[in-house]
Amino acid sequence: MASVPTITLNNGVEIPQLGFGTYQVPPEDTKARVLDAFEAGYRHIDTAQMYGNEEGVGEAVTASGLARDDVFVTSKLNNNNHEPDRVHASLDESLEKLGLERLDLFLIHWPLPGIDIDFVDTWKAMEEAYRAGKTRAIGVSNFQAHHLRRLIGETTIIPAVNQIEVHPFLTQDDLRAVNAEHEVATEAWSPLAQGQVFENEAINAIAESIGRAPAQVVLRWAIQRGDIVFPKASSPERVAQNFDLFGFELSDADMASISALNEDRRVGPDPDTFNYVP
Ligand SMILES: NC(=O)c1ccc[n+]([C@@H]2O[C@H](COP(=O)([O-])OP(=O)(O)OC[C@H]3O[C@@H](n4cnc5c(N)ncnc54)[C@H](OP(=O)(O)O)[C@@H]3O)[C@@H](O)[C@H]2O)c1
Repeated sequence: MASVPTITLNNGVEIPQLGFGTYQVPPEDTKARVLDAFEAGYRHIDTAQMYGNEEGVGEAVTASGLARDDVFVTSKLNNNNHEPDRVHASLDESLEKLGLERLDLFLIHWPLPGIDIDFVDTWKAMEEAYRAGKTRAIGVSNFQAHHLRRLIGETTIIPAVNQIEVHPFLTQDDLRAVNAEHEVATEAWSPLAQGQVFENEAINAIAESIGRAPAQVVLRWAIQRGDIVFPKASSPERVAQNFDLFGFELSDADMASISALNEDRRVGPDPDTFNYVP
């Protein structure tokens, strides 16, 4: 089995470039899906307080028998936990649900520009949790360039990652460049545009021409751009197919054709206006 490359984060922590995403994986199915992912070779799991399935992830980690150091687990602060005291309490709850002593990566899920808690104050509590050893790295998600610049200007620790929506219809070249300028790794969420890539003719044509599945073509494009990805899939076959990305390469021409599909089109919410608090 080809091994997954790692990316070294700005604090020296190594993260596998390919992981398994658990958004919309029902809690009752999560243990089995994550065990399928471990079986296929994945060692990086992306969950969130909001997904309601941290227990299932934790049960799978325990049942897998894998050494703790061989598994990378990310979770994210829910939108109703931005208040600094809630950062600490909710991280403790996440650790308990996951059955872990510490996380590998903990993210602010959304910047929530319209709520009355400033994400800079939330971040300072994240910094305290990091210094207390409750997580090996901290980062943000859905931060636009202006959120990121303000955070970096007003706090001490530069986020290790910015997890943002990226796929062939939203290539995010500008924001990825801002992340890179600050040594913030880009994690690409919904790398398959939640399935919309499968309807695209150019992607299907490239897949046919190289004898690979369309999902593999799109995920390989993200890997070759240097992003960290964690596709979600519901069958063991798809989970395994999405892991099989390291035995082939896309040509420069195919990379360029996929990048040219950009329409600056989101499949998820706009971080500048999204203020949902459960
Ligand atoms: N930070 C954030 O705000 C944020 C937001 C969204 C997502 N995320 C993270 O990013 C992860 C991935 O994004 P996502 O779950 O939204 O969507 P995605 O990975 O882009 O796409 C998942 C969809 O593609 C289908 N699919 C997957 N592999 C396939 C294959 N090999 N062949 C055919 N169809 C396939 C899945 O179908 P089946 O499930 O039916 O197999 C599902 O409908 C999430 O799970 C989550 O961890 C983060």
